[in-house]
Amino acid sequence: MKSILAFLCICIFCYSLKITTTTAIPKDDTNPSEHYSLYNSDADYGIRNFTVTGANNVSIFVEEIGDTKNPTVVFIHGFLAFRLIFNPVFKNEFLYKDLHLVRYDSRGTLDSGKPTDPNQYVMDYNAQDLKAIVDAVVNKSPGKQITLVGWSMGTAIATLYLGNFGQDKVNGLVTLCGNVERQTIAPVGVALLDPIASKDYQESIEARYALPKGLVGKNRPPISEETALFLLGGIALIPTAYVNATWTSCN
Ligand SMILES: *[C@@H]1O[C@H](CO)[C@@H](O)[C@H](O)[C@H]1NC(C)=O
Ligand SMILES: *[C@@H]1O[C@H](CO)[C@@H](O)[C@H](O)[C@H]1NC(C)=O
Ligand SMILES: *[C@@H]1O[C@H](CO)[C@@H](O)[C@H](O)[C@H]1NC(C)=O
Repeated sequence: MKSILAFLCICIFCYSLKITTTTAIPKDDTNPSEHYSLYNSDADYGIRNFTVTGANNVSIFVEEIGDTKNPTVVFIHGFLAFRLIFNPVFKNEFLYKDLHLVRYDSRGTLDSGKPTDPNQYVMDYNAQDLKAIVDAVVNKSPGKQITLVGWSMGTAIATLYLGNFGQDKVNGLVTLCGNVERQTIAPVGVALLDPIASKDYQESIEARYALPKGLVGKNRPPISEETALFLLGGIALIPTAYVNATWTSCN
């Protein structure tokens, strides 16, 4: 299975701009050029949170919005990202009025547990973490079937989940920028990741800051300083152990 899971993990940021310009119009958006609302608090939207216990007892932070009786969609973010990357779709009333939306921080990111042991970052553990979330949702609404949306590396996690645990609880999979040829992405990754995984703090932070800026598509406007710093706030928290180990496992 893993052999087919070669992913353009880092296209998440390019794709985020695409998503935001096509589907997301937050109701109190203050920056129409980006359609990306950074400052509205989750409480404004009635977002609820809970944690589940993932593989090896790593705590996984989960958020939900919308009536749990509605069909559930679980959003799985990509490499070096975190749940807030889905703000434009998650905080979109058009979606949450009819659906039950769920998003979470994968292990190593934002409000989830951040092991410092690289062995904790294999994709199989990410798939087990997703299983804990799917089970938690289905336990609350027995018989419910869930649609998975995997973005970039999130597609690897979703397909591994399906491969390892079956599709009984899943009625659909949407892949956003899911799979590419391994040989295309591998050299790009090494060049980007070396400085990010650097033990030199300043070099590492500068590379994490440059990452989203550098990955914006050619036909897209540059992201603002605000957005770059917003993303840096999450990316800076990701442990060095995650960087190489997750990259290697998802490729
Ligand atoms: C989770 O929800 C609680 C209760 O609403 C809230 O106090 C807390 O700030 C939320 N946690 C995060 C990380 O948003
Ligand atoms: C997880 O936590 C439980 C209860 O605290 C403990 O019994 C178990 O050994 C832990 N498992 C791992 C893999 O750490
Ligand atoms: C990450 O991998 C690169 C090679 O791709 C290596 O130079 C670097 O030392 C590694 N960093 C860590 C923390 O393992």
